[in-house]
Amino acid sequence: MRILSTLLLLTIYLQTYAGEGMWLPHLLKAMNEKDMQAMGMKLKAEDIYSVNKGSLKDAIVHFGGFCTGEVISAQGLVLTNHHCGYDNILSHSTLEKNYMKNGFWSKSLKEELPNKGLFVKFIEKIEDVTSQIMAGISPGISLKERQILIDANIAKFKAQMKMDKFHAVDIKPFFAGNQYLAFYTVSYNDIRLVGTPPESIGKFGADTDNWVWPRHTGDFSLFRIYAGPNNEPADYAENNKPFTPSHFLPVSLDGVEEGDFTMIFGFPGRTDEYLPAIAVEQVMDVSDPAKIAVRDAALKVMDKYMRKDPVTKLKYAGKFATIANYWKKWIGEAEGLKKTNAVYKKLKFEKEFERRANLDTRYKGLLPRFNALYEDIEEVSMVRDYFSEAPNRNIELLRLMNTIRPLVSTFENNGAADYEKMKLRVLTSLEAFYKEYAAEIDHEIFERVMEICVQNIPAKYLPTSVIDKDIQQMALKIYGQSNFTDMDKAKAVLSKNPAEAVKMIQSDPAFMLANEWNDLMKIEVSPIYDITKAKIDSLQMIYMKAQMDLFPEKKFYPDANSTLRVTFGKVSGFKPKDGLIYDHTTHLDGVIEKYIPSDYEFDVDPKLLDLYNKKDYGPYADETGSVPVCFLGSNHTTGGNSGSPAIDANGNLIGLNFDRVWEGTMSDNNYDPSICRNIMVDARYILFIIDKHAGANRLIDEMKLVHPKKKKKKKKQVEAMY
Ligand code: ARG
Ligand code: GLU
Repeated sequence: MRILSTLLLLTIYLQTYAGEGMWLPHLLKAMNEKDMQAMGMKLKAEDIYSVNKGSLKDAIVHFGGFCTGEVISAQGLVLTNHHCGYDNILSHSTLEKNYMKNGFWSKSLKEELPNKGLFVKFIEKIEDVTSQIMAGISPGISLKERQILIDANIAKFKAQMKMDKFHAVDIKPFFAGNQYLAFYTVSYNDIRLVGTPPESIGKFGADTDNWVWPRHTGDFSLFRIYAGPNNEPADYAENNKPFTPSHFLPVSLDGVEEGDFTMIFGFPGRTDEYLPAIAVEQVMDVSDPAKIAVRDAALKVMDKYMRKDPVTKLKYAGKFATIANYWKKWIGEAEGLKKTNAVYKKLKFEKEFERRANLDTRYKGLLPRFNALYEDIEEVSMVRDYFSEAPNRNIELLRLMNTIRPLVSTFENNGAADYEKMKLRVLTSLEAFYKEYAAEIDHEIFERVMEICVQNIPAKYLPTSVIDKDIQQMALKIYGQSNFTDMDKAKAVLSKNPAEAVKMIQSDPAFMLANEWNDLMKIEVSPIYDITKAKIDSLQMIYMKAQMDLFPEKKFYPDANSTLRVTFGKVSGFKPKDGLIYDHTTHLDGVIEKYIPSDYEFDVDPKLLDLYNKKDYGPYADETGSVPVCFLGSNHTTGGNSGSPAIDANGNLIGLNFDRVWEGTMSDNNYDPSICRNIMVDARYILFIIDKHAGANRLIDEMKLVHPKKKKKKKKQVEAMY
């Protein structure tokens, strides 16, 4: 009896929270349809992915190659995140017409704004091409020979396809190289900005609230796909027409309740779910802490100066947001891995793996080999982390030397004419660099970050000019004497004749330190790292196959690799720590609770305040009388899933994915249903802002708004009458 009830509890628990997995759309029928339907989905796998008829996948786009977007009208209207449209919104903004600050809503098709270089990509068909791509590969072959054969097979496969400029086939490895899939794609290159809320809505809470629940960000923007006269893909042309999709997502006005089925359809970037315990331990104890420490120091310095001076604030805002984004993510990841005993869980799995592997000659002794390799790589891998975060990122004067260095090598190898060409390119990069640079801040970052490097990097991997030196003196010398601390001095160097300029560069103290460090990495670190990493990768390929062979009862999904995936879960709050429970939803009232007048993160737009004061919510409020803003789900997502639609049991849009809770960002290495949650903007908040705040009724009119739940309730009432 007791066993039965434990089993029952376990099933309920699993049913409530099953959210792990980034599944391949063309395999849903075989792998997931039943589970999805058991969780409440009313659709068939064929409604989600079909090559024969319009299906949900025809509404999903890879947005610019880095985010996801979805078509939400018959006129090619595309919804994505504000932070995905950010650069394009910024590119149309000036101090006079500040769309970033004030928002932008085009009043007609004519006013929609073209974006150079922006594209969206649809997936037409997915095909398993493993046998073609692996043709000729025999078991004993070296990794290098294997890769050469695979590259040749891919080239041959692509050559057979007659593709034009807009159609392509992408071939990607899955399951650590055990399988290859082909994605047939079509791209549209005329994508125009239709509308965006002001930053105080689209980025409400900015860095303080980033990765955090409770969340109140209206992180959305709207674009439109334009096509040629016959709806065909086309480059930008003024006379292009709004694109007619084969499917678009209706938008639900009914909102969500705890436990509702949710599905996220998009392009997750990268996960590593099948690593051995020792690898996860290194992420948690070595790699994340190293990267966090450097960024922590750099961010503290930036923050100090940004708070003192509004000009600095603007200058450093973009840089700060980018660095803070993953800094915060890694903190959550390391803590989450600890909290959920990820390493212990992996070790437990490995014990069972070993038991089964011992009965199978193919995979005996695999795990000990892994442990030895990871021990070999640990130190150099950590040194690489410091190198990539310190001189290659956060100490910007040293990073800038990567831009300057090609001038020297070009002059030495190709002569003055090529140097002059290269110089033009370098000057453009310098303009962009100095726009967001203050030597005073960088000087202080150098001191703090170098202290960390000297403390943590073993001496043999440190440039000799740094060992046992007074860092402050060194900083004074470098920042006092370098010619690259501002644009004028840098320009003065580059205005000299090539031979003289190169000589000046070579004797610049910043250049000398950066070069010494670079060479040291090349000589002492890369040889060990590259060879060991290649061995780890080929062993991971075998380990992946071994896991699949030895655990036939388990369902495996491939790691994310920027290809189209479906993940499904439920609307669900969670318990981040003892004594604290997070509700699954937030409301406009919470925006007002967080409101700090004229704060750069928590200011509230006057029009939104006005709507709030008048409770002018139209049909977008829920039963609490307030407008829902964000909600949580147990869907397994990662970077790249930004802008992905949250879809209900019937195929309607209920929300827009834009973040995860930081307690659960370890889902990239080890999804745990207890604390892994994705964060979505509620579709009703998006509609409320478009309709009531922006007054962009023409956009509401072109969408298809639906009431799936109300219909059901009505039907029940009618049934009850008879
Ligand atoms: N954390 C989200 C993601 O990983 C949102 C990032 C954009 N927002 C920001 N404040 N940096 O991309
Ligand atoms: N904000 C992320 C993105 O830009 C999504 C959050 C995550 O990493 O899950 O894709």
